[in-house]
Amino acid sequence: MKGCHCAMRMLDIILKKRDGGELTREEINFFIREYVEGRIPDYQASALLMAIYFQGMTGPETADLTLAMAYSGVTVDLSSVPGVKVDKHSTGGVGDTTTLVVAPLVAACGVPVAKMSGRGLGHTGGTIDKLESIPGFNPFQSVRDFIRIVKEVGVAVVGQTENLVPADKKLYALRDVTGTVEHKSLIASSVMSKKIAAGADAIVLDVKTGNGAFMRSVEDAFELAREMVSVGTHVGRRVAAVISDMNQPLGMAIGNALEVREAIEILRGERAGALKEVSLLLGAYMLYAAGRCSTVEQGREMVEEALDTGRGAQKLKEMIRAEGGDERVVDDTSLLPVADEVIAIKAQQGGYISRMDAYSIGQAARLLGTGRNTKEDKIDHRVGIVLHRRVGEKVEKGETLAEFYVTQKHNLDGAIDIFNKGVDIDKQPPLPKPLVYGVVTPEGIERW
Ligand code: URA
Ligand code: CA
Repeated sequence: MKGCHCAMRMLDIILKKRDGGELTREEINFFIREYVEGRIPDYQASALLMAIYFQGMTGPETADLTLAMAYSGVTVDLSSVPGVKVDKHSTGGVGDTTTLVVAPLVAACGVPVAKMSGRGLGHTGGTIDKLESIPGFNPFQSVRDFIRIVKEVGVAVVGQTENLVPADKKLYALRDVTGTVEHKSLIASSVMSKKIAAGADAIVLDVKTGNGAFMRSVEDAFELAREMVSVGTHVGRRVAAVISDMNQPLGMAIGNALEVREAIEILRGERAGALKEVSLLLGAYMLYAAGRCSTVEQGREMVEEALDTGRGAQKLKEMIRAEGGDERVVDDTSLLPVADEVIAIKAQQGGYISRMDAYSIGQAARLLGTGRNTKEDKIDHRVGIVLHRRVGEKVEKGETLAEFYVTQKHNLDGAIDIFNKGVDIDKQPPLPKPLVYGVVTPEGIERW
């Protein structure tokens, strides 16, 4: 902090936001640049984040923050790949394996998919952890190889490169420990800066709402979606956001290899359900946003056909091979590392399932070893939970609600306890909840 009046100027910016003022683009650029360079201390950055948390940000401030973050490190230039490139992003959920289903389907329809993904966060799973359960798979490709695979195969899902959006790396870690994660403008700038830097022309967002999501209320999810669509549109990207339910896990499997297995079974046409539904809907919007079809309905028919003909499964194989993995897992899922020991969790009473809380089930799976408690923890790809029932279904006392795939027992009782606390069985069937609440596009908000 020597030779610079950064700390002093930063204080003025904190005071302005604390008192409810609107920051200029210059002030926001200054903050991001100097913070990334290490010339603004964490305590001042924390104070500004908390001021933003309470005072909020206007649309232009959020857009300026997003862009300052997006260009804080390297950006990916996909212009050498012909056509409109598309990306997707989920704000994070449980049993939420849509990427592994939809990315190959969209690529099979002729639209290049270029996606950088993250690891699991808290109770939520991460696509990179799931992909690493495939024997040999290496998600950490160079930017050059990322672009080459998109060109050659039509789809690449890789880990985020080290120097992409350093501002988000620093700010996210700080937000995580200062109580400033759950703010719409901060989430919107965090997500969209990474999407913008990763280079795709069209971006489809899956904004989760419910107890297993960062945005618990439906209204907050719509508002977050609106901010993200607005920022993306502002920088010339085509963006659509689907608001989908995360009160119960989306798929039936929670756990890394188990989720890959479920995605493969969907692509092989062997499974229906909520995960398949949301994946097809996201795929339809990805094709539509990329201009591959003139209506979303047409996009839906195209992705369904790619699934029915097996072209999606074939694309997944090609992507796995290109990233060093054993593509035979698509034909033979027994090649995936899945725990041998399976423990059935039985219904303690008969009735209708009224609640299967995504947050609790995510936590129970994490106790079995699917996720991390510290950044250094190693996850166990083999373990997890496979649900046998969903909310609204009827069960008899003693019927299997779920199976736990385990490799060690020391957290098993705790995991069973959390799972059971997350499940309610009532005499009356619950009111059905929608799987999708609506869609936000540059044209406006559509509630379903
Ligand atoms: N996911 C992100 O990438 N950033 C956030 O702020 C929240 C979820
Ligand atoms: Ca209960």
